[in-house]
Amino acid sequence: MGPSVLIIGASGAVGRPLVDEFLKQKSQFQRIAVLADPAKVLRFADAQKKGVEVVIGSFLDASSYKGFDVVVSLAGNAAMKLQPGMVEAAIAGGVRHFYPSEFGGDISVGNFWQNRYFRDKVVTRDHLAAKAKEYPDFRYTLVLTGPFTEYAVSSFNGIDFEKHTVQPYGKPNAELSVTAMADVMRYIVGSILIPFDGGKQIREFRVPGQARVTWEELVKLLGEAQGVEYKLAYLDPREAAAKQEQARKEGNEEEEVFWAGKAVMLNGSGLIPEPLDNLKFSFTPESAKETIQRLFGNA
Ligand SMILES: NC(=O)c1ccc[n+]([C@@H]2O[C@H](COP(=O)([O-])OP(=O)(O)OC[C@H]3O[C@@H](n4cnc5c(N)ncnc54)[C@H](OP(=O)(O)O)[C@@H]3O)[C@@H](O)[C@H]2O)c1
Repeated sequence: MGPSVLIIGASGAVGRPLVDEFLKQKSQFQRIAVLADPAKVLRFADAQKKGVEVVIGSFLDASSYKGFDVVVSLAGNAAMKLQPGMVEAAIAGGVRHFYPSEFGGDISVGNFWQNRYFRDKVVTRDHLAAKAKEYPDFRYTLVLTGPFTEYAVSSFNGIDFEKHTVQPYGKPNAELSVTAMADVMRYIVGSILIPFDGGKQIREFRVPGQARVTWEELVKLLGEAQGVEYKLAYLDPREAAAKQEQARKEGNEEEEVFWAGKAVMLNGSGLIPEPLDNLKFSFTPESAKETIQRLFGNA
């Protein structure tokens, strides 16, 4: 029988499709469970009917984790800074394999390690590395996909779908890797079923659906899918940085992270450097063109 998995943050944007993917592969797992705040249990009624267990409790309490082999954290930006506490509680509860809330670019590249947008992911990675030294049987997995295609081609990056204009913060010809959300879910679930190599305690799966594409190419694909032409003009990332700093001074953390995020997509942070691990999985991911056609195509 496969492992028992507990998902944290299962009600979020990534959590919902991830639970659906786990259900598709249910027979491979001994238990699939979501951790729910007592006040929010009803959100999981549908999943529960389909065979997902609901564990009621706090992600900072060791007892929530008892009996689980693997924890997948999908903490959103607001909860990201609490992940070291989750790791502590999970280890105390007996968990020996942790998936931190990553599922994006490779934050260890260049100066992204210093970028505010990734700060709490960095702190979590540091904490996991320290715990791995302390507990020789503790392991963790990073799943790196680059931006989800659905999030990249969105108004967040300055696309106006009515006026057919694009005004992102960034620089021309920056490359990124993109992955369709459904494929991200398949990589996460599939990776849990791949055994760890030998005595390793950390592993990465670098699995972008499309390894390299420029923003210009994505915008062209969008225009082709819709049969229109988009006008693209870059905004200066320093403007976003100034707004980020202003929000920080005002103590508005949500805005601070929002503006930090605006400036990261088109500066190379979304590109997953090789070597890639897609061939360790048995499916072919969607290309950017296929996803954009599926989402925006007129046919
Ligand atoms: N590469 C990409 O393009 C991309 C796109 C989207 C997301 N992601 C990544 O995927 C991961 C999950 O993101 P998401 O969009 O699914 O996040 P989300 O929807 O914002 O939140 C996920 C979960 O975090 C928990 N949460 C949020 N605020 C909280 C708070 N203040 N206190 C306690 N819990 C809180 C909630 O769980 P409960 O309901 O259980 O409280 C929520 O369901 C992140 O690492 C994110 O960076 C990547």
